[in-house]
Amino acid sequence: GGQPAPAPIKDTSMKLVNDAAHPWMPLTADQQRGPCPGLNALASHGWLPRSGVATPGEIVTAVQNGFNMEYNRALLCVTYAAFLVNGNLLTNLMSIGGISRLTGPAPPAPALASGLNTHGTFEGDASLSRSDAALGDNHSFNETLFQQIIDISNKVGGGRYNVSAAAEVRFQRFQQSVAENPGFFFSTPRFNTAFIETVFPIVFFIDGRSTDPGLDLNVMRDFFQNSRMPPDFHRRGTPSGGSDEELDFVMAAHDYVPGFNNGTARDARTCSLTTSQFVNTTMELYPSPQGDLRDAINTNLDNFFIPVSTRCTQIFPFP
Ligand code: HEM
Ligand code: MG
Repeated sequence: GGQPAPAPIKDTSMKLVNDAAHPWMPLTADQQRGPCPGLNALASHGWLPRSGVATPGEIVTAVQNGFNMEYNRALLCVTYAAFLVNGNLLTNLMSIGGISRLTGPAPPAPALASGLNTHGTFEGDASLSRSDAALGDNHSFNETLFQQIIDISNKVGGGRYNVSAAAEVRFQRFQQSVAENPGFFFSTPRFNTAFIETVFPIVFFIDGRSTDPGLDLNVMRDFFQNSRMPPDFHRRGTPSGGSDEELDFVMAAHDYVPGFNNGTARDARTCSLTTSQFVNTTMELYPSPQGDLRDAINTNLDNFFIPVSTRCTQIFPFP
């Protein structure tokens, strides 16, 4: 069971990705989108299956092809982490939205196999454009929240979503969740994804031909609300996982969790906390997997560890 991770793509040049072969199309009845504007847009342009159900390998390849996301970033801090906790390990399929019959028969509970909308394993609180699960819909575009992004970008970003706007949006959403959501959870792994997500729009949604450091707000809306790339959209010209410089800026702009030292130890966090967190969750979801299921989990744990193999010790929960 399970499939090895696909090889990295070879051509990582800047190129047209909203092309004739990948037109935007509106959703039909059987298709769904979820909390991630990046994957949503890839599905609505046919870089991923338009159904919104895909294999992890398809996701790894599509985020490279469509946005020039760096191979290692595509593997670890997103695809296989999400797949282990939200995917169907038996059929090798995952919904980028809610539970779907298209992912096939699920492994027994407590396994989830319920897609990226699932709260608390990958999807988390204080998202930019989506509500906290405890306060409403955690996966659909929220106009009130997007207006906050617009207001802040107008105030500190000169009318664009740039790194200064990202830092203030991140902090405002954090403060809102602290004030409004009694169950607010902002520890690993969400602590990491919450920051990287704020710079993804700047890194991936700005046209590769542009030298502007900020994202146009109408373009941002079209990605976030309609899963749509602008006409003629070119992906960036170099692979990226989100730069440390931008991430550090957003993290250092405000104090988040007392006891977390923002500027340091990102590697330590990645290995000992984030990595083991996903392995722990996988163990909780699969208390004693056997046969094909066990093989599939192990293959996907191997895939998950590829990018950190030089600096983390792999954990083998199911030897
Ligand atoms: C948010 C999954 C790649 C941009 C999310 C969330 C999930 C997710 C589950 C929701 C987390 C939350 O806010 O609570 C994934 C997976 C990927 C991937 C499995 C596989 C590689 C990408 C790419 C981009 C992207 C390539 C950009 C091109 C974003 C942004 C958000 C987000 C901007 C924040 C949305 C918000 O907070 O309103 N992603 N993502 N993601 N993702 Fe992705
Ligand atoms: Mg969320």
